[in-house]
Amino acid sequence: MRIAMFSTKPYDRRSFEALAPRHDMQYLAPRLEAETAPLAAGAQAVCAFVNDDLSAPVLQALAGGGTRLLLLRCAGFNNVDLAEAARLGISIARVPAYSPHAVAEFTIGLLLALIRHIPRAVARTRDGNFALEGLLGFDLHGRTAGVIGTGKIGALVARALSAGFGCRVLAHDLHPDPALQAIGVTYTEPRTIAAEADIITLHCPLTPQTHHIIRAETLALAKPGLILVNTSRGGLVNAEDAIEALKTGRLGGLAIDVYEQEADLFFEDLSNEILADDAIARLLTFPNVLVTGHQAFFTLDALNAIAATTLANADRFAAGEPLGTAEVRPPVGG
Ligand code: NAI
Repeated sequence: MRIAMFSTKPYDRRSFEALAPRHDMQYLAPRLEAETAPLAAGAQAVCAFVNDDLSAPVLQALAGGGTRLLLLRCAGFNNVDLAEAARLGISIARVPAYSPHAVAEFTIGLLLALIRHIPRAVARTRDGNFALEGLLGFDLHGRTAGVIGTGKIGALVARALSAGFGCRVLAHDLHPDPALQAIGVTYTEPRTIAAEADIITLHCPLTPQTHHIIRAETLALAKPGLILVNTSRGGLVNAEDAIEALKTGRLGGLAIDVYEQEADLFFEDLSNEILADDAIARLLTFPNVLVTGHQAFFTLDALNAIAATTLANADRFAAGEPLGTAEVRPPVGG
């Protein structure tokens, strides 16, 4: 089967080639969008990543070129028009879990880096400045942390914060996890979390219900100085509202690995260009904001698991077998 893989970086190619795929792999550097979709003409499968455009017109172009399978080499599928894919007869497989540890560990790393000012401290010492003024942090122990979404990643973060650091952990999920409740995690509503938490970390998927779950109204409820971490999807946070809350101090720190408009920015070296996106440019000016470029998944273990599961999905489809738990279908009635 020919597989056209979009947004391919050298590290992606290495992880797939190491497994000697028995498919005809076509590694393409461009991001998938309407203009680049014709590159996949004749490929039965297209392999896409988080910022590839899988809206209706792109899916129609792919289907017109003979594509029957969409292999998402990620967990999230918020960028896919599922109903249109179903209408066009395109099957979709994703990588439901490749390494929740990679994302959970990065989340804790970002949180600690933010509240202890580690990037600023390292930048200072490199410049021969060993002063501590401006680097005052606070203990996580005893603080209240809110975890929104306690699936595979959120559960690991909740455990680390609760059992590891001794935080009081409040959580919100449509499906509370009894194992977390057993270690003292308390499930409650987002409003309560907004009002009581010192730290909020987001781990729910981006859906119409969770879009801008953090916005002006939520931030208005927060204790001054709230720390917010988002390693899930950019659309969970209204960036303009976060900027206003940073200006007033309502938000005391923000660490983001994802950004709602990241598709035009992330995964590329733009260091020689002028940033056209005013919100990200403003965010990068705050001393208490950390931005990373969708890096939380990026471990050797996760890349290997992504390649293995993606190729297993391709093998199953090529053999006419069901895609099982990797299959993504439109919501019932949706
Ligand atoms: P998961 O599916 O195991 O967990 C998601 C949880 O969110 C589930 O428990 C679900 O019940 C809950 N949820 C769904 N709708 C909700 C709502 N309206 N309110 C509260 N909770 C809700 O997913 P997993 O593997 O833990 O991943 C979480 C998210 O992390 C993914 O959706 C993805 O967007 C993001 N992610 C980010 C990566 C990165 O590199 N920055 C890498 C991998 C995932």
